[in-house]
Amino acid sequence: MKTIITGAASGIGAETALKFARAQHAELVLTDRAPEKLARVADEARELGARVETVVADIGDVDAATTIVHTAERAFGGLDVLVSNAGALFGAPLLDLEVDQFDLMFKINTRPTWLLAKAAHPMLSRSFGAIIATGSISGVCATPPLGSYSASKAALIMLVEQMALEWGKDGIRANCVSPGSTLTPLTAEGYADPARKAQREAGIPLGRLGRPEDVAEAIFFLASPAARQITGVNLLVDGGMSKALMPATGAGTGQSQNG
Ligand SMILES: NC(=O)c1ccc[n+]([C@@H]2O[C@H](COP(=O)([O-])OP(=O)(O)OC[C@H]3O[C@@H](n4cnc5c(N)ncnc54)[C@H](O)[C@@H]3O)[C@@H](O)[C@H]2O)c1
Repeated sequence: MKTIITGAASGIGAETALKFARAQHAELVLTDRAPEKLARVADEARELGARVETVVADIGDVDAATTIVHTAERAFGGLDVLVSNAGALFGAPLLDLEVDQFDLMFKINTRPTWLLAKAAHPMLSRSFGAIIATGSISGVCATPPLGSYSASKAALIMLVEQMALEWGKDGIRANCVSPGSTLTPLTAEGYADPARKAQREAGIPLGRLGRPEDVAEAIFFLASPAARQITGVNLLVDGGMSKALMPATGAGTGQSQNG
């Protein structure tokens, strides 16, 4: 599969890159703003048999999307799958949030999926391709003090639903995968304290934090022909956490969610 993966240098994106690299005829454009870590993941993917191009870019830059999509066109002559996964987490109570902090969440977590998908639309419509964006449980369940993060992920989930409706006629599927609390470099600091980790795990019906490979499996499934009749869904990979959120987190006590 000819696939673009953003945020591929770390966590869920890196694991997704390796999952796709293990498949036959994998041709990957891996992109991130962290050059050394990206190069390491790219080398690992090549060792697994994939052809790999890398693009070092800040996904918040408007021009990044066309650079990334053109790389796939130039190197592989097409595109089957767009995995828009890069994301950043900034938490502050709404009353303390500055305008640039608010905007940053939408600039990194929401807008790039639209710009990438728009640029990739011609290639994806030729291949009957798939778009998968990484949402978040926070885009479904409001999670103070992550006000603008949660809002940016909720907007992303709706954006992808709109793509599914507008572009179904073009043969393009568009879905979200929304992780619950998942242990990655993004959240590692928050779970370094064993008591806090245990408290969080107690609120997850399946009893453990997610792992990047849990999310990568779901992304791979939605990209595969096995999901050919699935579009416009938001697949929660959260161990049931979203269904247990109220009792698990002591809503109203000021405790917060990560991710
Ligand atoms: N870990 C969780 O608990 C959790 C929960 C819900 C959703 N998510 C989402 O999963 C996705 C992946 O997160 P992760 O946990 O693997 O985090 P991570 O920090 O391990 O990986 C995120 C990657 O995105 C890259 N990135 C961030 N900002 C960028 C930018 N402006 N330009 C280019 N690259 C950029 C980072 O360099 C990093 O390699 C994110 O969209 C995140 O919001 C994570």
